[in-house]
Amino acid sequence: MTKRTIVAMPGDGIGKIVLKEAIRVLDAAGFEAEYVHGDIGWEFWCKEGDPFPERTQKLLEQYKIGLFGAITSKPKDKAEAELAPGLRGKGHVYYSPIVSMRQKYDLDICQRPCKTFPGNPLNFIRRGFGGIIEEPVIDTMIFRQNTECLYGGVEWTNPSDKVYEALMTHKKFQENFAWCPRPELAVSTRIFTKKYTTRIVKAAFEYAKEKGFSTVTVCEKPNVIRETSGMMLKIAQEIAKNEYPGIKVQDTNIDAQMMWLTKNPEIYHVIVAGNMFGDIVSDGFAGLVGGLGFACSANIGPEIAVFEPTHGSAPKYAEFNPSIVNPIAMILSSCMMLEHLGENKKAKNIYDAVANVVQEGKVKTYDMMKLSGTPDAFSKGAANTQEMTDAIIENLK
Ligand code: NAI
Ligand code: MG
Repeated sequence: MTKRTIVAMPGDGIGKIVLKEAIRVLDAAGFEAEYVHGDIGWEFWCKEGDPFPERTQKLLEQYKIGLFGAITSKPKDKAEAELAPGLRGKGHVYYSPIVSMRQKYDLDICQRPCKTFPGNPLNFIRRGFGGIIEEPVIDTMIFRQNTECLYGGVEWTNPSDKVYEALMTHKKFQENFAWCPRPELAVSTRIFTKKYTTRIVKAAFEYAKEKGFSTVTVCEKPNVIRETSGMMLKIAQEIAKNEYPGIKVQDTNIDAQMMWLTKNPEIYHVIVAGNMFGDIVSDGFAGLVGGLGFACSANIGPEIAVFEPTHGSAPKYAEFNPSIVNPIAMILSSCMMLEHLGENKKAKNIYDAVANVVQEGKVKTYDMMKLSGTPDAFSKGAANTQEMTDAIIENLK
């Protein structure tokens, strides 16, 4: 088989730590690849005024597959203040490079699996009838539209005349917001398009069909957000009727869904949502199966795909030596990459190795022991990042 080239973009903070560990596991599992390094993140914003430099974009365009660690984003005033003095006042504006990447390359299908690993001390438990303790087995894939909605970046503070006039053409704006002085007005738009809404909904149905699940849940808020959430629900109903007659559409509101998370999460197997609600509901489900140390994801576009843990750069843990964080989320993200590349056997091998380590329970990072992330976690028995990776590698077949 030809050797693959993967663009490795560690980014900031613990991104640099966990990506290295994932590559160790991929190597040990016999995945033959070369990794080319891609600069990305805060360092390049500060030094170059661009957190997603063109040279990294070129690498992605050339090699099509990326592994991404995490980046640090800071508010507007901090971004300006930390920019190299020579670059200040030259019109550089900070945008999160991962959000830019998703938009630039149409990485519109975000998949976030949330699956219970038996034996994980972080698994959600609840009190059942008669006081028994139940540990529901969760197997949910969240399909999050990744490029539109509130993350589209179409927003204003103190909108211009044209924008303000356009807003004033809407009856609700006149009734509810015309009282507000314009400089005190902030507007973020929630834009959905039929093309991309259809793509994410179809991806969810395809997955349900492939895995034999009979329901796709649209998790939005169409009773209130009538245009955008309404569009997604309507598209899902049409797709179900015309293309997937055996699969039902279920419709939940994001707020109620978060409440149902702790009631009956095991009944949801395929959820589809817009960008914002998809982000929220996937973090909610991730919390039931181990939290950020376990939450992996794929960003898939028509040509390019990038795989990343959903956690951020956790700067407070970046300098720990030895490192304290859990590499599993990044390792599972690289499993998703293998599946995307058709390397299903290797993906399963790694997944099973993680499952064995978790089930055995001998090697646990601080988060799995519910300790606070301080160096004394090690003296209380927590494994460090490298030890967790070593244990996973030892469990490979
Ligand atoms: P975060 O995900 O970096 O960390 C939140 C907390 O989760 C940590 O303090 C730690 O307790 C825990 N945690 C995260 N990853 C872990 C791991 N692998 N093992 C064990 N525990 C882990 O989110 P936070 O603190 O809100 O943001 C930090 C920075 O990361 C910010 O600059 C933020 O903008 C950025 N961020 C980047 C993301 C990305 O690159 N896709 C996503 C989320 C945040
Ligand atoms: Mg999130």
